[in-house]
Amino acid sequence: MKILMVCLGNICRSPLAHGILDKKIVEHSLTDWEVDSAGTSGWHSGEAPDSRAIQVAKTHNMDISQQVSRKITKQDLKSYDLILTMDSSNYQDVMNLCENDMQREKVKLVMNYAYPGKNMSVPDPYYDNRFEEVVEMLDIAIEELIASVAAEYHPVG
Ligand code: 4NP
Repeated sequence: MKILMVCLGNICRSPLAHGILDKKIVEHSLTDWEVDSAGTSGWHSGEAPDSRAIQVAKTHNMDISQQVSRKITKQDLKSYDLILTMDSSNYQDVMNLCENDMQREKVKLVMNYAYPGKNMSVPDPYYDNRFEEVVEMLDIAIEELIASVAAEYHPVG
């Protein structure tokens, strides 16, 4: 299972989502899972995550300092199984990059794993500093993501 976490700048929300899933991959022994992250804008390409994201990650025992921001590519839409977006604008931007329905079906709002059908966005902490809230929201959604994909892979009964 190859998962790409996507936000606008790839320096706040998607690096945290990437770090959270990295940690859960180890905790749940999901040996065939891979995660990466990207931004729709490319504004911060080549940069490390925002220092506030690195700091809040550290308080949750995650080191995201080695991540490097990059812009999403059309190749990502082919090579990833799921593209998980943080808000409705990221969702629309990624959908606009898609070239066929198979790609469009891979694109989801990450919070829908926690609250199906609510189309809830992860608030952008870049301006308002809500980094801790972002980690807590993403932690819930990513735990549900793992449960839902595991259920698909190993249906009960
Ligand atoms: P992110 O947050 O999309 O969660 O990485 C942002 C980072 C940078 C900017 C906006 C949002 N910016 O305007 O540079």
